[in-house]
Amino acid sequence: MKRYIDLIQQTFEFPTREFGVDAQNNLLFNNVPLMDVIRKYGTPLRISYLPKIGEHIEHSKILFKNAMKKYNYRGNYTYCYCTKSSHFKFILDTALKHNIHLETSSAFDIPLIETLYEEGKITKDTYVICNGHKMPQYLKNITNLINQGFVNCTPILDNLDEIDHYLENVTADHVNIGIRIATDEEPTFSFYTSRLGIRYKDVDDLYLKKIKPDERFKLKMLHFFINSGIKDTAYYWSELTRFMFKYCEMKRICPELDSIDIGGGMPIQTSVVYNFDYQAMVDEIIENIQWICHKNNVPVPNIFTEFGSYTVGESGAILYKIIDQKQQNDRELWYMIDGSFITQLPDSWGIGQKYIMLPINNWDAPYTKVNLGGLTCDSADYYNTESHSEDLYMPIIDEKNDQYIGFFHTGAYQESLGGYGGIQHCLIPAPKHVLIDRDENGNITTELFADEQTEESMLKILGYRSKRKPAEPLLESASKMQFHEDSKEK
Ligand SMILES: Cc1ncc(COP(=O)(O)O)c(C=O)c1O
Repeated sequence: MKRYIDLIQQTFEFPTREFGVDAQNNLLFNNVPLMDVIRKYGTPLRISYLPKIGEHIEHSKILFKNAMKKYNYRGNYTYCYCTKSSHFKFILDTALKHNIHLETSSAFDIPLIETLYEEGKITKDTYVICNGHKMPQYLKNITNLINQGFVNCTPILDNLDEIDHYLENVTADHVNIGIRIATDEEPTFSFYTSRLGIRYKDVDDLYLKKIKPDERFKLKMLHFFINSGIKDTAYYWSELTRFMFKYCEMKRICPELDSIDIGGGMPIQTSVVYNFDYQAMVDEIIENIQWICHKNNVPVPNIFTEFGSYTVGESGAILYKIIDQKQQNDRELWYMIDGSFITQLPDSWGIGQKYIMLPINNWDAPYTKVNLGGLTCDSADYYNTESHSEDLYMPIIDEKNDQYIGFFHTGAYQESLGGYGGIQHCLIPAPKHVLIDRDENGNITTELFADEQTEESMLKILGYRSKRKPAEPLLESASKMQFHEDSKEK
């Protein structure tokens, strides 16, 4: 009978730069022996392989540098990290070692920026690109940042009134402003135009009536973000082209405009072998932008990106043990994991996101088709297809050996969407989290970032550990209400 390793080798060119198998038939992830990690920390276990973050940032910078050189592009490139992909301090500390800038999306992001500044991780020259539909506290926090002298804090206007707050409250004498332009959604989407940003036809008026008259404010950037990501599709190119024509049109009435932000959406690998040609894609973006600018006799803009998934996605993985197998009918075999997809990999359940899924051990065992089941009582808590296949295979479990599996490239969004540290479906605790790094000699180091969530933490959130305050009347004074009722009777 064929072994699991034979199956993988006939499906992919294996080993890859990232995945391999050692002499004991155990998986290596970036040359990290995962069975050793499991022996030390147990499962379920979230891991973050930190060196990957720097690799991706540097890779992106090289892609843009190569493309700009190829086309003799006369603008520059700025890499921003979109904090919402993973707000953890160890992620930002690692990313900021690579001379990057930041993009924010909520009020609470700003204290995070201030903390990084106090720790000397960023300076007042760091670009802080502030996106999102802003609530009063977010507007206030952005204004404070600008007033404290963060000269490159750039609010990206998401609606027509946002600017009013800055006009009234900013005391700095120079403020960079950006405008997010609402793109059309993909033809298959349920809406025609994105709710995010300002529609094309309102951009000129917003600039002429509200930004231009106040000489402290400079419109420096137009921003666009394609929800479905950077993809070589007719839709992506037509939206980019439309956006660039708008940039050229605006540049004629607003000479200080000199930058575009093309958002996030750089894809990450969802299969062991992935054929996205990053360099060709970036080349084409640069070529298109330049071509449109030349055609309109406009200097090319500086380019900003806000890659979130691309920065952190491939650094993350989650490891489980198979705790039971259940043959539910002749064809359906379930491997039960010691965690939950709904709570720990919510994108796999919510939007059908696929991840690289591989066994950690027993690669020399024969394989079988399985469904993976999570611990919650929800029948949707399962995973049974891969991005390259409708079927999912695992080594056949031998009674004497435990089986462990891993989901890879799970480093973006899963903790925040899963409500890290909160209550979870069926009170499944957040797993232990370990950081894996390399020291200056290349040796692997591990650090326990967080233990498994405790029952105490959940009971506290659920109100079992505090006394409820006495209920109070809804209106200011119950007696006043009584009086009102009495007077009605008379
Ligand atoms: C404005 C903006 N920029 C950047 C990103 C990051 O996208 P990604 O993680 O796909 O790179 C997002 C994600 O939603 C976003 O809304």
